[in-house]
Amino acid sequence: MKKTKKNSIWGGRMQQDVSNILQAVNSSIDIDKRLFQEDIAGSIAHCTMLAKQKIIDKKKSQKIIKGLKKIETEILNNKFKFQIKNEDIHLNIEKRLFEIIGLDAGYLHTARSRNDQVTTDFKLWVKKSSKEIQYLIKNLIKEFVRLAEKNTSTIMPGFTHLKNAQPVLFAHYLLAYVEMFKRDYQKFQNTINNLNQNPLGSGALAGTSYNIDRHFTSKALGFKEPTSNSIDSVADRDYAIEFLFASSLCAMHLSRLAEEIIIWNSDLVNLINIEDSMLTGSSMMPQKKNPDSAELIRGKTGKIYGNLNSLLITMKGLPLSYFKDMQEDKAGVFDTFDTLSINLKLACQLIKGIKPNKDNMYKAAQAGYTTATDFADYLVKKGMSFREAYKKSAQLVNIAEKQKKRLDELDFKTVEQIDKSIKNDVMKIFDLKYSINQKKSYGGTGTKSVLQMLKKVKKEFK
Ligand code: ARG
Repeated sequence: MKKTKKNSIWGGRMQQDVSNILQAVNSSIDIDKRLFQEDIAGSIAHCTMLAKQKIIDKKKSQKIIKGLKKIETEILNNKFKFQIKNEDIHLNIEKRLFEIIGLDAGYLHTARSRNDQVTTDFKLWVKKSSKEIQYLIKNLIKEFVRLAEKNTSTIMPGFTHLKNAQPVLFAHYLLAYVEMFKRDYQKFQNTINNLNQNPLGSGALAGTSYNIDRHFTSKALGFKEPTSNSIDSVADRDYAIEFLFASSLCAMHLSRLAEEIIIWNSDLVNLINIEDSMLTGSSMMPQKKNPDSAELIRGKTGKIYGNLNSLLITMKGLPLSYFKDMQEDKAGVFDTFDTLSINLKLACQLIKGIKPNKDNMYKAAQAGYTTATDFADYLVKKGMSFREAYKKSAQLVNIAEKQKKRLDELDFKTVEQIDKSIKNDVMKIFDLKYSINQKKSYGGTGTKSVLQMLKKVKKEFK
């Protein structure tokens, strides 16, 4: 019989060493070492519970916990040697524990498996990271609010199809993004709430014969309660997918914002200035100032979507319960967290340094007959049906176009010809500010409504 691989935990069973290629592909330590704090916290909770339940001796448990804390300090101080041959974070820590406290380390893995261990660690990590993302979203919202507060009377064109539609307040536009990021904040909260059950104590898949206390470890780790089915517990990665989905939506909102900023900053449109620290130059054209920051936010969104898609596909073919395929879950989640964090920080900087070109915004809002709907509404209020009024207003726009004039530049005599109900109060209809302040409906662009919404978000995100 060949010598077994003594070093390996399952050395007792195997007749051959693990091949180099399998070792390389099977090892996840370079990626999952990011879970070290969660792994140690999980082990401490587990070990404390084992002693409390008299499954292991109290002295041994104290020794184990002391060893685990020493390992945490070693890792934090870059003194820990992560080893590929020890496969993943769980085994790297366990191996080191043997080195530090000797054979008593062998008692720690009583009544647990790496299957419940890894998903407990990962849930704790996703929870912590969702909170970090929420913090960044909150900062971004505050930056939007600051810019909106400075622009509660800045008028710009609102668009549909990127064609001038109706005049709106710049503050209103900015608050539209606030709504998106508020939903993102809530999505991460939902992710946190949905993962609130502790899988630890599910063992490999069947639960365990020891008299463990899963409510105790749940409380110790900050979960609401233990999971209810041991098979589902080790097979479930929904929380990771939810995190990736919440991140994808948030990234999509950031990407739309980035696209908007790029267009508005273009020489063609020129509605905003971006501060120089968020721009880069060209290696050849000396005059250039390019919005690379916004382009990178947009560009990085692709891989955030990719990571969601990738885990959905990894999971879709897996019967219950654990398969090694699931080890592939972490790289994408970590990458999404890193990328989304960068995008949120970039967006925050960008918004902070944006200066609206108020004159250009106003001029743009005057172009494209943006008060034509207001004119139709005027006729409706004189008793006409909206469909009839729509036709009359289109007629007026055609006249203005022929005369190469804006609606507010037409003389009263021309406007009056459109319908006999028209009185000399009509000309104010074409004033942009008047148009905006007529939009008194809840959530509309009228100044009062915008101020009301500003007050509301400021209260929500202090
Ligand atoms: N590193 C593994 C993972 O991330 C831990 C679980 C290993 N379980 C097993 N049965 N091989 O999925």
